[in-house]
Amino acid sequence: TYLGIDIGTSGIKAVLIDAAGQALTEARAPLTLSRPKPGFSEQDPADWWTGVLHVLDAIRDSHPELMARVEGIGLSGQMHGAVLLDASDAVIRPAILWNDVRAAAECREMEERLPDLRRIAGNIAMPGFTAPKILWLQKHEPENHARIAKVLLPKDYIRLLLTGEHVSDMSDASGTLWLDVAHRRWSEALLAVTGLTADAMPDLVEGSAVSGRLKEALCRRWGIAHAPVVAGGGGDNAASACGIGAVEPGTGFVSLGTSGVLFVSNERFSPNTEGAVHAFCHAIPDTWHQMGVFLSATDSLNWFARLVGQDAAHLSQTVAEGFTGPGTEIFLPYLSGERTPHNNAEARGSFVGLSHLSDPRAMGQAVMEGVAFAVRDCQRVLVEAGTTIDTLMAVGGGSKSELWLEMIATVLDMAIAVPEDGDFGGAFGAARLGLIAATGADPKSVCTRPKISRTITPRAEFKSAYDDQYQRYRALYRGIEEARS
Ligand code: XUL
Repeated sequence: TYLGIDIGTSGIKAVLIDAAGQALTEARAPLTLSRPKPGFSEQDPADWWTGVLHVLDAIRDSHPELMARVEGIGLSGQMHGAVLLDASDAVIRPAILWNDVRAAAECREMEERLPDLRRIAGNIAMPGFTAPKILWLQKHEPENHARIAKVLLPKDYIRLLLTGEHVSDMSDASGTLWLDVAHRRWSEALLAVTGLTADAMPDLVEGSAVSGRLKEALCRRWGIAHAPVVAGGGGDNAASACGIGAVEPGTGFVSLGTSGVLFVSNERFSPNTEGAVHAFCHAIPDTWHQMGVFLSATDSLNWFARLVGQDAAHLSQTVAEGFTGPGTEIFLPYLSGERTPHNNAEARGSFVGLSHLSDPRAMGQAVMEGVAFAVRDCQRVLVEAGTTIDTLMAVGGGSKSELWLEMIATVLDMAIAVPEDGDFGGAFGAARLGLIAATGADPKSVCTRPKISRTITPRAEFKSAYDDQYQRYRALYRGIEEARS
């Protein structure tokens, strides 16, 4: 059997699959996030480890015979987070996460210091990425900065505890802003901008290659007979893509998780820094991908549901039941600034067009529509980069809402396929990468498309109203940000 472990923002998840790639069982443990100041977002890496032990202990207890036969493990995780280790591998301070925007000034500084940065990195310096967080530390927490011996990404810290190795994979390493993404190696020039050298970086492997073996003590704890190999794995988006078969050029997915992502696989490295497109290595060799990332997808609905004292699932259900067509309220989902397409950490969310009739249902609908428009913004900049998106699947917690997917399909004017088995997240793709690393199978023959349960098609009757709303949504961003600045 093969195990995939995902270090998500809202929880840890593990999935066990068999040699045919069939999911056998899974376990989850929730995580919380701390926002000590506006724009800050942190987690304690010790909580990830507690969660990993919890889910793997649970699978051992429920399925000891399957656990005993694990041969390969793959890791997936929230990208970009900075885990800072001292010379003895002790964690220096809480990890600064992907949706933390404190390092906006440091991004501008990096681009001034290295005018060639966008070309080498293939990406804009954005505060969510790892490198600017280190510059922020240098200024604001010099005593912590001075102790840094290694910087690891979230799943790579878990790998260190599982195997004793400091290793990252190409897809996750792409999100540090220290990788030469075209050549799949660390860039001394990018590292130097933040006062680091390659000594502070983990070794690099492809996501489907072996990075180490599970420690003996952990094999004993979980009753695993022979120490399984641990694959490089991937950032959660690249790992999810492996899970739903988005590895061929033009295949992609839309993910409605805490963040929203429009992902498409590319044959070669295809940057478009203008539209704040992320151009990263994929988790399998000789493959790249692009994505548009917006920071608050289900996070927007969760925020609003909490505000009106409702549960988000219940609220989206209420919206669906009362839905008669595009609403008049408009919501801009920039609760923690935005990456694609604005690269503006200072942007903030808005409700516009409220009336006496704007109740939680109508405003909840506007939140869902605002998220759909954010996906359209991502589609626009990917297409502007010359990319063709041929097929799209839906993943992530928000994709359980049929209406939300319908809104997105209509706004994108594209069909969206929903996988039969629901939850094809990063953990499942990571398990596939574990299988490839353990067996030497061909990545593309393992990372196939799952069975499709249904295809959501655009609602033609709402198309032109949504096109008009989208134009207003775009104009509002410009107008509101001008007024706020
Ligand atoms: C991608 C990104 C998010 C996280 C979420 O650039 O920041 O999608 O990976 O876990």
